[in-house]
Amino acid sequence: MLETTNLTKIYRNRNKKAGGVYALTDVSLNVKEGEFLTIMGTSGSGKSTLLHLLAGLTDPTAGSVRINGVDIAALSDADKTRFRLRNIGVIFQSFNLIPTLTAEENILLPSLIDRNKKTAKNVTKSELDDLLKTLDIWERRKHRPDALSGGEQQRVAIGRVLVMKPAVILADEPTGNLDSVNSEILCKILRELCTARKRTVVLVTHEKHVADFGDRTITLKDGRIAQ
Ligand SMILES: Nc1ncnc2c1ncn2[C@@H]1O[C@H](COP(=O)(O)OP(=O)(O)OP(=O)(O)O)[C@@H](O)[C@H]1O
Ligand SMILES: [Mg+2]
Repeated sequence: MLETTNLTKIYRNRNKKAGGVYALTDVSLNVKEGEFLTIMGTSGSGKSTLLHLLAGLTDPTAGSVRINGVDIAALSDADKTRFRLRNIGVIFQSFNLIPTLTAEENILLPSLIDRNKKTAKNVTKSELDDLLKTLDIWERRKHRPDALSGGEQQRVAIGRVLVMKPAVILADEPTGNLDSVNSEILCKILRELCTARKRTVVLVTHEKHVADFGDRTITLKDGRIAQ
């Protein structure tokens, strides 16, 4: 489902040709459909860099990322954007909701951006209602983000990802701003998506109890897989 081969990222200095930061070196990974992989490692070990490369948000210096056999770095910008919108969902520590839209409007946003009539993933009313209920934000659906708790805002952010039914869900410290109760709710939702719906999840965390929800953990050290 998700495969990286000798993935390497060097952040070059702007003014110098040589040198730069070796953020990730020779990372080869294979994540199966329905698998829940967690990534741990100290600050600066390359976790976010790896996740951004998997999401196609940045291009590798060397090596490749394949999702369902597609080499994302080889796609044109327009194709990459389309591929990402339909196949990859990204969840960050900050919720990045649009403050002027209600919870349900925020969730529907990606489906409105995907305007290609032939292939757009139209969301039916009952699908939206199911999603709001699954995430336990049905009662709060007409509220704007500033009237929602942190846990509710994060669940809206997840709803916005799930509405496109992505095969791959990438999460960078999604529990970073949540208390332990909301953190566990989020982990259970992600676990359920893997087990019951065969979604593939890659989650970065520095919390062992969060990593324990996954099937397998890799630890990065100085940009390499240490464990
Ligand atoms: N845009 C950038 N330009 C230059 N260096 C960068 C850039 N982004 C990250 N780095 C460097 O690359 C290395 C890996 O960073 P990364 O953000 O992947 O670490 P991380 O494991 O996610 O850390 P944290 O746990 O603190 O979030 C670090 O040394 C960082 O300073
Ligand atoms: Mg990070």
